[in-house]
Amino acid sequence: MSEKIGFEPPRGMRDFYPSDMAWREKVFGAFRAAARASAFEQYDACVVENYDLLSRKAGEEVGEQIYHFMDKSERHLALRPEMTPTLARMVAQRQKELAFPLKWTTIAQCFRYERMTKGRKREHYQWNLDIIGEDSVLAEVEVVGTAVDALRRMGLTTADFRVRVSSRKFLGELLAKSGIAPERHSQVFMALDKRGKMPDEEIAAMLRDGGLGEDEIAATFRVMDTKDYSASPELVEFFRLAEVAGFASALVFDIGVIRGLSYYTGIVFECFDAKGEFRAIFGGGRYDNLLTTIGGTPTSAVGLGFGDVVVTELLKARLGEDAATARQGIAVGFMTEGERDAALRLATRLRAAGESVALSLRPQKPKKFFSRAGETSAKAVFIGPDDAAAGFARLKDLETRGEENIALDAAETAPPSI
Ligand code: HAM
Repeated sequence: MSEKIGFEPPRGMRDFYPSDMAWREKVFGAFRAAARASAFEQYDACVVENYDLLSRKAGEEVGEQIYHFMDKSERHLALRPEMTPTLARMVAQRQKELAFPLKWTTIAQCFRYERMTKGRKREHYQWNLDIIGEDSVLAEVEVVGTAVDALRRMGLTTADFRVRVSSRKFLGELLAKSGIAPERHSQVFMALDKRGKMPDEEIAAMLRDGGLGEDEIAATFRVMDTKDYSASPELVEFFRLAEVAGFASALVFDIGVIRGLSYYTGIVFECFDAKGEFRAIFGGGRYDNLLTTIGGTPTSAVGLGFGDVVVTELLKARLGEDAATARQGIAVGFMTEGERDAALRLATRLRAAGESVALSLRPQKPKKFFSRAGETSAKAVFIGPDDAAAGFARLKDLETRGEENIALDAAETAPPSI
């Protein structure tokens, strides 16, 4: 007996129906256009990666969220939860041949076994922008500026989102000044990253477990009240250059931005919608040690990941659910079987001329044809027996309602417009 299989995709995975693809294409189109405008080169890799490359120390959520499996030859493999380790591996493999600094981009499908909440799926597409081999803070400005450019291309303005910026290096210096030993900092970062997601008492307990005394815990919370970044030359320069590049109005300093991944070493940033309704739109920072960690030569790096899920939710809320479906192309329909050849001939000619043509596959009443065409197409031609006999039909602009004659046979020239 055959068992009935549900129609739902596995939990957390997404199907993309044509209306979903319209949104995905709008978002991906902005990603690609912004990356091109800033001259990032494209790269790609397989979604299946070696487990050992992806798993890291305890305390990092993403390490615990990896989908992994043994293949038939007992290789421990995984679906990547992010692209950065793969990028580091690819760069390390060709470190001698590549001309640094690299500016690389990709749209990578990533998998994380996450607790499902708004904006978090178990699979998402993540646009990555990375600059490898550059110490200057202009690298941070370039990646953040390119992400801001993409948001603008999607139809948002700097009033719609905020990029919260901090620096792990600066936070480390502040902690060190408060008497917290540098070897404790990575643990402190991981605990502080949970701020806002769990009560401060639980964070204090995590710090206590990490070996901090009560005075050190109090000092840590005091550091988190820092509002002034003028003691950090790199942050000062970052904000100044963002002003020059025209996106400083989207930035705010926030010492509380830590980032959940352990490899960041310098400036870190995270973008949210201005009303604070959604999860992070994108996040990233400087990670100067990752190449060394995986066995490569020391190389500085800056980058970000920008998921498709949250920004699509935000765009739907701000621009409307159907803002992605633009009517385009020409619909061609016919009344009876007698006009079918003429319709196919016209469609073929228009397609050869570069138009996108939706040819009706069966005879239709004009009302039905135009109501369907009006939903998807910008223009429409309907061929009835009289049109076929005359050798002309009317090409209607469905937006402006304007009409012009169109010859059904290429050899004929249209009579003066009606
Ligand atoms: P991340 O903050 O873990 O960073 O992810 C970056 C972005 O990916 C998030 O801001 C969010 O838009 C999206 N994202 C992450 N997880 C999910 C999920 N489960 N569902 C939907 N969207 C999600 C990284 O992954 C770093 N590797 C980014 C980076 C690149 N750093 C340097 N280069």
